Amino acid sequence: MKHLIDIKSLKNDEILEIIELAKYYEKNVPLGTQKKKQKGSVALLFFENSTRTRFSFEMASRKLGFDVFNFEAQKSSILKGEGFFDTLNNLNAIGCDIAVIRHSREGFIEELAQKNYSYGLSLINAGEGKSAHPTQALLDFYTLNKHLGTLEGKKIVIVGDIVHSRVAKSNIELLSRFGAQVVCCSPDYFEDWTLEHIKYEPNINIALKDADAVMGLRIQKERIENNVPYAQYIADYQINEKNMPDSAILMHPGPVNRDVEISSTLLDTKGEIIIEQPRNGVFVRMAVLDLIFEGVQR
Ligand code: NCD
Repeated sequence: MKHLIDIKSLKNDEILEIIELAKYYEKNVPLGTQKKKQKGSVALLFFENSTRTRFSFEMASRKLGFDVFNFEAQKSSILKGEGFFDTLNNLNAIGCDIAVIRHSREGFIEELAQKNYSYGLSLINAGEGKSAHPTQALLDFYTLNKHLGTLEGKKIVIVGDIVHSRVAKSNIELLSRFGAQVVCCSPDYFEDWTLEHIKYEPNINIALKDADAVMGLRIQKERIENNVPYAQYIADYQINEKNMPDSAILMHPGPVNRDVEISSTLLDTKGEIIIEQPRNGVFVRMAVLDLIFEGVQR
């Protein structure tokens, strides 16, 4: 694996290899194996806000023995007019092997991956606009596997702002490829009719019936121009103790806006897997970094 741009670019056996390696890292501390190899350097370049994704990439890199550099756009030469490709090329020249990038523009990381870096540089998409967030989908797949076993025939309901959510897009692609029945539930202003492999059910009570997993999504305010009718949204689409099936697991990529997409009561009584997700994210990101670093040649 040279880059990780989106789920589309991964074959099923590569996804399973990531999951297997993540399972290994959940149980075993890396025995200095990475340190014996040439030591890797990872640069974290986040142009949008992040807590879980940035910290877990940093934690994963440190556990593998890599050096980590946090890029601060506001203090960088980008403010002096330097283009981002030139910045990356220079970071690579200085010794950085892997760039983990979060950006608001769709297609940006793929464009960067097409360019030639003087020393070779691998790119990992840590969330791009509303199109793709591959490592989040991989960690959600890992979490679902842990709790539900195989996803063949399992009903996974994604509730909320589907159209602006990169998490929904990457999850739909990945989970449906492994046999899950993905149902999306949202008001019409959050629907995305261009998506394949899903069923839409606008009524939350019908959608959540017999679900094996329920995934809430935050309303992506930063990508929405029109006003969202919050009170109506909460009345019709909040996941709460009344509509959540007992037997289903509750997930959310975070950050949760309490009492909007999920009620505080439900979060405090059934939210344990939402806290497990970022923990699993460390192991999955260790696996991704490890597999990509294997291919790094200077
Ligand atoms: C998500 C994101 O950034 O797309 N967060 C995350 O990475 N855990 C979801 C969100 O911001 O709502």
